Amino acid sequence: MVITFVTYVVITFQALAPLETVHGTTAFSLVLEVRSVIQIAVNNSFHLGVLGSGKGSNFVAMAEACALGKISAQVALVLSDVEGAGILAHARERKIPARFIPPGKFRTKLDEDAELAFVGALREAGVDLVVLAGFLRVLKGNFLRAFEGHIVNIHPSLLPSFPGLEAWKQAWDHGVKVTGCTVHFVDAGVDAGPVIGQQTVPVLDNDTPDSLIERIHRAEHELYPRCVAAIARGEISVVGRRVMWKK
Ligand code: GRF
Repeated sequence: MVITFVTYVVITFQALAPLETVHGTTAFSLVLEVRSVIQIAVNNSFHLGVLGSGKGSNFVAMAEACALGKISAQVALVLSDVEGAGILAHARERKIPARFIPPGKFRTKLDEDAELAFVGALREAGVDLVVLAGFLRVLKGNFLRAFEGHIVNIHPSLLPSFPGLEAWKQAWDHGVKVTGCTVHFVDAGVDAGPVIGQQTVPVLDNDTPDSLIERIHRAEHELYPRCVAAIARGEISVVGRRVMWKK
């Protein structure tokens, strides 16, 4: 987002309001007014490609943050491996290009053709950052190589604790007092890449897994757009496993 302040002077000759008349001469007031305008230009040349298999609440948070200029980017494409996924409906409601791409014969990863189709669609849309938002397949070699260092994910626990499925339930079962969510870069491991940001959520005595995940989701909807905004502004750098934020 680029914010520009434009200042200009308006001179008004107030002919309708004579100040006084001196020796038959009428004096008028000349009003000098300084006005400022704030121009906000949203830079949406940074393109996000969002992948999801489910309801798409993180996508909605991301798309809204883009629309409000909180992220200087636009969601260029939404892809899903599930034909009826809510995320596709949310994207279409917002007139964002959205496609189902059949994942192929495997249950937990994309097959080779599907991988090519996903990568091709993302490249065609000029995607700069692949944003995983509840995408339930592990990305492998060709995909990772095509977007190396440009894939992020959100996970509903404080990694490296509780990677894998139903992380909030794992945390609740374990009896931890604090859990949360993590945004991280994606590498070949499962929920294992360098951590970009984390937000904590307390586990309350009367929590159930359902009440806990509801609060974790609210934290995700703040954390994920904040991390993606920093990446779009070029404020994130990675040294080994350590992710640095400028400022
Ligand atoms: C989120 O809880 C996220 O942490 C996990 O998958 C869930 C996606 O939810 N990776 P939604 O589809 O964004 O609502």
